[in-house]
Amino acid sequence: MSVLTRNWTPTHGDPYRPVPYRPTRMDPTESLERAAELRRRMDERRTVRQFSADPVPEQVVHDAIACAATAPSGAHQQPWTFVLVKNPEVRRQIREAAEEEERRSYEGRLGEEWLAALRPLGTDEVKPHLTDAPQLIVVFEQRYWLGEDGAKRKHYYVDESVGIAVGMLLSALHLSGLAALIHTPSPMRFLSQVLGRPENEKAFAVIPVGYPADDCAVPDLTRKALPQVMVEV
Ligand SMILES: Cc1cc2nc3c(=O)[nH]c(=O)nc-3n(C[C@H](O)[C@H](O)[C@H](O)COP(=O)(O)O)c2cc1C
Repeated sequence: MSVLTRNWTPTHGDPYRPVPYRPTRMDPTESLERAAELRRRMDERRTVRQFSADPVPEQVVHDAIACAATAPSGAHQQPWTFVLVKNPEVRRQIREAAEEEERRSYEGRLGEEWLAALRPLGTDEVKPHLTDAPQLIVVFEQRYWLGEDGAKRKHYYVDESVGIAVGMLLSALHLSGLAALIHTPSPMRFLSQVLGRPENEKAFAVIPVGYPADDCAVPDLTRKALPQVMVEV
């Protein structure tokens, strides 16, 4: 049975229980074909900031979140919560609060160096994607484990684990035909308030999900070539 289809309960302090793992080894020819196709498909992914209001297939989003939740995590603590926001009124509240923070950021809080880094992206304090996209996935990191009785337990490598899960989420959405944006309004405390999240959770990102608007445009960016990012030893 898949590890995903069972309900997880805390394993803290449990003994090591090995189980066999014997995945079928892929033929190298097939590996090469798959890798090349995946590289081509991933290179097509772009961050979208103008969304159509068209609805998305609900199950595709659920499956993408389930893919994200297969991510590796420090001590397998799975320190993430994905809040799927469909309610238009809640999306409106998130947009209002995000634009309030972004206004302060763009009006000077970010500083000239940060603003200069953002300039090629054409972003500003107006965030229509938060209400135009039919769904938002708000990702929270669980800074520590919180039991029903209020007990707390340390989580390890939370940022790294949630970052990997979000990367897998963005990949899954893209490969399933949906567009997304990872949006990080700073600070993000308002998300815990609007969504009523518990004290151990801290907002990590807001991810609008949908289809690009008919007139969608993206910045003309260049990705680093492989020799610029890879060093062979
Ligand atoms: C951690 C992180 C935070 C980001 N925050 C924002 C954001 O707040 N607003 C935004 O418009 N884009 C945001 N982005 C998207 C980047 O600007 C985008 O990924 C980058 O410009 C490359 O474009 P591409 O995704 O189309 O390749 C963020 C990306 C990352 C990884």
